[in-house]
Amino acid sequence: MGKLFGLVGHPLGHSMSPLMHNTEFRELGLPHHYQPFELKEDELEEGIKAMRLLGVEGFNVTIPHKVSIIPMLDEVEQEAMEIGAVNTVYRKENLLIGANTDGQGYLQSLLKLTGEDSLVNKNVLVIGAGGAARAVAVSISRSGVSSMTIANRTVEKAEKLSDVCRPYAEVDAISLELANLSLEAYDIIINTTSIGMSPDINNVPIPVQDVKEGVVMSDLIYNPLETLWLTEGREKGAITANGLSMFVEQGALAFEKWLGIKPDRSRMTETVLNKLGGK
Ligand code: ATR
Repeated sequence: MGKLFGLVGHPLGHSMSPLMHNTEFRELGLPHHYQPFELKEDELEEGIKAMRLLGVEGFNVTIPHKVSIIPMLDEVEQEAMEIGAVNTVYRKENLLIGANTDGQGYLQSLLKLTGEDSLVNKNVLVIGAGGAARAVAVSISRSGVSSMTIANRTVEKAEKLSDVCRPYAEVDAISLELANLSLEAYDIIINTTSIGMSPDINNVPIPVQDVKEGVVMSDLIYNPLETLWLTEGREKGAITANGLSMFVEQGALAFEKWLGIKPDRSRMTETVLNKLGGK
């Protein structure tokens, strides 16, 4: 029998998740359906009760509910607790369990990009200290990275995030200005801020002039597919990647938690790329 999955957030108009999951269900011959559920902040609690009653099998969580949903769930996996946010909910018997596949999704896509199986011996710079940065920084720090620096406009937020990561790795918190002065020290630079995202396409999170040769520049943004920051980096010889593979990977990991089946990541990427006009 077909199972119901979904996405909880607001606004959901531009989300690629329903298309990506429904295409994959169809291609795999599965009778399931993935439905967007628009819920505002004050509707979330009732919405989750309805999910339980209606037997929704699993769902993703997005802005603005990734943090506020935590007390409404029966259990939350340790990594999601450390990240402080849930993006995936699955059922275990009658319980709703919260997980976070953003961090692992990002880590997997970064390892694919570097072509290595770990980040040992890598100095990583994370730009930003908001919700997206938390998932990225916690997962990277748990992966055996050599050292990580978090740079943010508001340095106090970078300091708070480094405190969460410090049990696992050597982590520093600095200002964007200081990061700019030490750019050649990093092997991997990751933009987790929204600077450069459509329609703010003429701005960059940090100048690329002083990055070291062969640096990996990873932007979590995938709309546009290549931000100005990535274009400038590519022209300087950096290895660059947008946020599409993280998006696909976090969705694929959620799919696996719900169904215990590996979806086809290449096909999921094609589906989203076609929709974004990249191909
Ligand atoms: P998300 O969940 O997408 O990460 P967020 O939690 O609002 O969104 O975090 C946005 C991040 O982008 C923050 O690190 C923010 O810096 P502050 O903590 O100083 O606010 C950063 N950011 C957004 N716009 C910025 C700008 N114009 N200049 C510098 N940093 C910016």
